[in-house]
Amino acid sequence: MSDLFKEKAKEWDTNDRSQQLSSGIGSAILENIHLTQSMEVLDFGAGTGLITSQIAPFVKRVTAVDISESMLEKLRAKTELQEKVQVLCHDITVSRLNQEFDLIMSAMAMHHVKDTENMLNQFSKHLKQGGQIALADLDSEDGTFHKAGTEGVFHNGFDRTYFSELLNRHGFIDIKFSTALTVKADTGLYPVFLVVARKVAVTH
Ligand SMILES: C[S@@+](CC[C@H](N)C(=O)[O-])C[C@H]1O[C@@H](n2cnc3c(N)ncnc32)[C@H](O)[C@@H]1O
Repeated sequence: MSDLFKEKAKEWDTNDRSQQLSSGIGSAILENIHLTQSMEVLDFGAGTGLITSQIAPFVKRVTAVDISESMLEKLRAKTELQEKVQVLCHDITVSRLNQEFDLIMSAMAMHHVKDTENMLNQFSKHLKQGGQIALADLDSEDGTFHKAGTEGVFHNGFDRTYFSELLNRHGFIDIKFSTALTVKADTGLYPVFLVVARKVAVTH
């Protein structure tokens, strides 16, 4: 599979938009999730680790998964994160990791995954009972957020009501949306949601 972020990885951390997004999303996660030093966290589509690096100090460990080696190379170079962060070039929507997490977070990666239902199903399978999600992505937009013809973009954002129904169908409860930030660009305004929810715990 070709690495669609090979070029973008070079400037990712210094790019204004990436910085704005990760700062808004990181703050929203910190505001909405009670992090503890016992938590095992999965960062889905971790990229260069802009979100991972904000969360890692407050938890036991972050497992950063991504399918772009170029993005992960930048993350691996952040030696200050080595103690807390496990980096895996792996697609959990295709094959499951042999581990369950307390929290799965994701920033701006879900619109790159074609089959949203399968992805949410895999999130659920990778969570402990009662585990949480904190997922951020674009609200529905007109397709102008990315340059025309950008490869690997499968969704022009997500409708909150539809996304909530999907989460519900995959066993998530206490679903709560907030607006993490709004990206202002020449082409328009692009609100970004953060949804937090909990995997229902089965009682025996
Ligand atoms: C827009 S970037 C966001 C990176 C990072 N979360 C951030 O906020 O800076 C999207 C990332 O999702 C990754 N990605 C796309 N599909 C993926 C998949 N199936 N599994 C894991 N990562 C994926 C891409 O390789 C890319 O690094």
